[in-house]
Amino acid sequence: MEGKKLINGKSIDLGVCYYPEHWDKSLWPEDLDRMLEAGLKTVRIAEFAWNLVEPREGEYTYAFFDDFLNLAREKGMHVIFCTPTATPPAWLTEKYPEALNADLEGNLICHGSRRHYNYNSPVYRRFSRNITEKIASHYGPHPAVIGWQLDNEFNCENDLFYSESDTVAFRDFLKKRYKTLEALNRAWGTVFWNQTYTDWQEIHVPRKTNTNSVNPHLELDYYRFVSDSVCSFAGEQAEIIRKYCKEGDFITTNGVFGNLDYQRLRRESLDVLMYDSYPNFAYCLDDYQKEDSMKDRKWSRNLAEVRAVSPNFGIMEQQSGANGWNTRMEAPSPRPGQLTLWTMQSIAHGADYVSYFRWRTCTFGTEIYWHGILDYSGRENRRLQEVRQVSGKLEKLQEIAGAKYLAKVGILRDYDNIFDCRVDRWHDRVERVSRESLFTALQQAHVPFDYVYLESHETAESLKQYEVLFYPHGSILTKERMEILEAYVSAGGKLVMGCRTGYKDMNGKCVMDCLPGLAASVTGTDIPEYSFVAPDEGKIMADWDGALMEAAVFNDILAPVGETSKVLAVYTSGPYAGSPALIRNRFGRGEAYYFGGAFALDTAAVFLEKLGVAEPWKDVMELPAGCELAVREKSGKCYLFVLNYLSEPASIFLRKELRDLLEGCAISGTVRLQPYGVKVLECPVQQGCAADFEKCF
Ligand code: GLA
Repeated sequence: MEGKKLINGKSIDLGVCYYPEHWDKSLWPEDLDRMLEAGLKTVRIAEFAWNLVEPREGEYTYAFFDDFLNLAREKGMHVIFCTPTATPPAWLTEKYPEALNADLEGNLICHGSRRHYNYNSPVYRRFSRNITEKIASHYGPHPAVIGWQLDNEFNCENDLFYSESDTVAFRDFLKKRYKTLEALNRAWGTVFWNQTYTDWQEIHVPRKTNTNSVNPHLELDYYRFVSDSVCSFAGEQAEIIRKYCKEGDFITTNGVFGNLDYQRLRRESLDVLMYDSYPNFAYCLDDYQKEDSMKDRKWSRNLAEVRAVSPNFGIMEQQSGANGWNTRMEAPSPRPGQLTLWTMQSIAHGADYVSYFRWRTCTFGTEIYWHGILDYSGRENRRLQEVRQVSGKLEKLQEIAGAKYLAKVGILRDYDNIFDCRVDRWHDRVERVSRESLFTALQQAHVPFDYVYLESHETAESLKQYEVLFYPHGSILTKERMEILEAYVSAGGKLVMGCRTGYKDMNGKCVMDCLPGLAASVTGTDIPEYSFVAPDEGKIMADWDGALMEAAVFNDILAPVGETSKVLAVYTSGPYAGSPALIRNRFGRGEAYYFGGAFALDTAAVFLEKLGVAEPWKDVMELPAGCELAVREKSGKCYLFVLNYLSEPASIFLRKELRDLLEGCAISGTVRLQPYGVKVLECPVQQGCAADFEKCF
């Protein structure tokens, strides 16, 4: 990223999404002046504006954005330009309907909303390359342009594709993967229900079937195929842009959606990933859940996902007003202070660029209620004042630019298991519970954590930084991944695995090994029996030295194997009462834990406590449950962000004197945070880490 014009470790910047085409040109100069005055120095433009460059097939006109870019240059505004492929024009889809996506029954999706195309139509690929070439070659050299956004939110609205072109491309994808039909038939177990293929033409993307299920191994490959399609579509655009963009201009895309391997997308096509952060979804009328204590704080989990792709990332769209389409997602305006809180939440998690969505609220179209900083009139308002205050605050936080998020706990993920959860409800049920409760328990115990994608050799090297790694339900295991994990544990790490580990291969087929399959050796565990928790059994509990924990959803009944393996907890209720529920195996210099259930909230909290990673900053400060602690580290200094998500004031207690960056003074003792208040405190780097790693990676 060195040399890039944003997110380069030198500054933390603000920007805004702007739609020049939504406003009379006469408004542009004043809009840009007001943005700059508020500290918004970059605009993102043009992601839906295909017709303004190619109004009819093969006819090009550049004047509209030339005028805007020239004005931006004159004013000193930077621009992120987009490829407009999220909304193919009506002239295109009418003449070439094969560019459209189709539903499960093969009916074409109609023009009229957005993201209505499929990635594999050769015709659409040609148009996508062509418009990218035209836009990149014409606008790329413009001095106002500093970066590029590919498309808009790949796989948003819909991450399933069933067009004829998808079926054709799926066959090619499978030919590359399996080479022969015999190999494919074996991999998919097509002998079951007489699904054997005798010709590649017989294979289709999932279709409507009698039981509404398709072969699960086909479906797993289908999700991989969708991801592959996006990566290849994006890759073509990135390659074209790289030919024309200026030295230092970056390529990004926005959002995190389903059926897409973002690690690969970043590796092949992006300099950095940006996220669209709308914490106000937590207050939407249709899914406001009173029992969920995390609400907008859950966006920290999404930000951890983004950080797993780009350690320092950007927010392309940061909520600045009420949510809402005319058809869905009704949520209130951010309350005073929340706009600041959510901006700081992003920065606390590693964002070095935050761009608000959007400048002025649109007066027409589906998003008339998706408010920007300004309302329809554009008059001065409270939210713009708050943006100004945020820019003032950021002036004081510039030294944090490029700082790394500091976490000693990691949660391992990989796309094979993520996609398998789409296919397999048994897998998804355990994963869902553990994902929610691990996050909540980590938040409540103020433990900063990372998601870590187990995908390459670099992972092994970087795992050393974590004292504890959870790999909750890696049902699909591979030898390569187990080698990385075994190296981590034998070098001194602590690995925690949950029920349903290791029972599938890469095709999603069940292995015939004794479970937990490839994880048996590191965990010193055997699983003679297993079962879903029956609905009439209530909560199945396990006892770990007096700490009671729920073994939720599913129970693996365990047996220790070998001298290094020890039973730490037994089931105390249900049909397996008295049988082992948790085993610890000493392996090399480290320890692996196998727990027989999914991690309920109390269970996750017990693990954090017993493994010694709860409240890692307790020597420095005491925090109430309603506050999040996020930590960034750079050049021997830690920056502790304390975020109060509550509408009431909160008090923290500082055991040490720390520098309050926003106030510019040293503070200690009891410190009060305003409702939705944020403190950023500087502290020398904490010394020592419980894990004692050998240099064996
Ligand atoms: C997304 C999109 C924007 C806009 C907002 C609000 O994140 O990228 O174009 O539609 O949501 O819906």
